[in-house]
Amino acid sequence: PTSLDLAVVAGDGIGPEVVGAALEVLRAAAEGVEVRTTDHDLGAARWHRTGETLTDEDLASIRRHDAVLLGAVGDPGVPSGVLERGLLLRLRFELDHYVNLRPSVLLPGATSPLSPAVLDRGPVDFVVVREGTEGPYVGNGGALRVGTPHEIATEVSVNTAFGVERVVRDAFARAAARPRQKLTLVHKHNVLVHAGHLWRRTVEAVQQEFPDVTVDYLHVDAATIFLVTDPQRFDVVVTDNLFGDILTDLAAAVTGGIGLAASGNVNPDRTAPSMFEPVHGSAPDIAGQGVADPTATFLSVALLLEHVGLGEAAGRVQTAVVGALADRDPAAARPGTRAVTDAVLARLGA
Ligand code: NAD
Ligand code: IPM
Ligand code: MN
Repeated sequence: PTSLDLAVVAGDGIGPEVVGAALEVLRAAAEGVEVRTTDHDLGAARWHRTGETLTDEDLASIRRHDAVLLGAVGDPGVPSGVLERGLLLRLRFELDHYVNLRPSVLLPGATSPLSPAVLDRGPVDFVVVREGTEGPYVGNGGALRVGTPHEIATEVSVNTAFGVERVVRDAFARAAARPRQKLTLVHKHNVLVHAGHLWRRTVEAVQQEFPDVTVDYLHVDAATIFLVTDPQRFDVVVTDNLFGDILTDLAAAVTGGIGLAASGNVNPDRTAPSMFEPVHGSAPDIAGQGVADPTATFLSVALLLEHVGLGEAAGRVQTAVVGALADRDPAAARPGTRAVTDAVLARLGA
């Protein structure tokens, strides 16, 4: 493609800081491509002003783009859940982002809290394929007798054969395309017997289509152990929406921190634009200080460019980010948003 129409949702907190930086990097890397962006005023400010989270008009506008770049949503001044559910999750659901792709690679220059003995075992390079449209996120629940000693609260996890199968097949295909060809299902079928066995049976069935892929299973509690003691055992991990959310913050922490972790909310059928965002949130504790690490958003831009068929530009972003990271002095103070951005732009020749 020679042009790219991007819907931008900078959002709240550090969202505008990291997205602003990422757009500079994107434009520098995608030379020769006409990049058009449409800012969508969504998040806390909009909600305070109008009471709206995401209108049908906003959604229709976003749908008209090739892809979405999102910063983060969520603000201490808005009741928890209003923006997370009404904006972010609504986008993922409406745009059918059933593959929430979260790569974890320990890059040179990243500081990992893993012990030297664990690091010595070899490179850490895996990807979590997190289901993005089902599970306990769907809002199938409610509360009775709220505020009384007899309050009952439920959030029922929804797992459909259709939803599980499509994400499992996508994960198998990704595993088949990687050198190690290994897929680990993470669930908790010793307790969550209904959903867990649906996932287990689905993996067993789809496995027939991918005879070269080795399949492994871990209960989610044990998976957290191995993420810290033996992360090299993972290649592709497939799991449900909530387990995937939790595991990918841990995965980010062990591979250099949440400031480096990228993600793509992918609609593999391309019936709607996919959406790329850092794994982290709006970080209200550091917002407005210019200290947020934009690297996670840069790497999300690389995933975006790859998805829209601009693989060369994606490679340029990836190479520049990896180089800039390797140059960081681990002993020095963490560089701010501007310094990280300038280092990457310099490597892009901008
Ligand atoms: P968070 O990811 O915003 O912050 C967790 C910790 O990581 C904080 O100490 C923060 O300062 C640090 N951090 C995050 N991003 C960083 C970066 N780029 N550079 C350096 N440090 C960084 O998670 P939280 O505190 O649990 O949530 C804050 C708000 O963000 C909540 O409203 C939550 O719902 C929302 N949230 C949104 C998304 C999203 O939009 N995708 C993701 C997670 C959380
Ligand atoms: C993430 C976030 C979101 C999630 C929240 C903010 C809805 O934690 O993108 O990881 O749970 O998916
Ligand atoms: Mn999360």
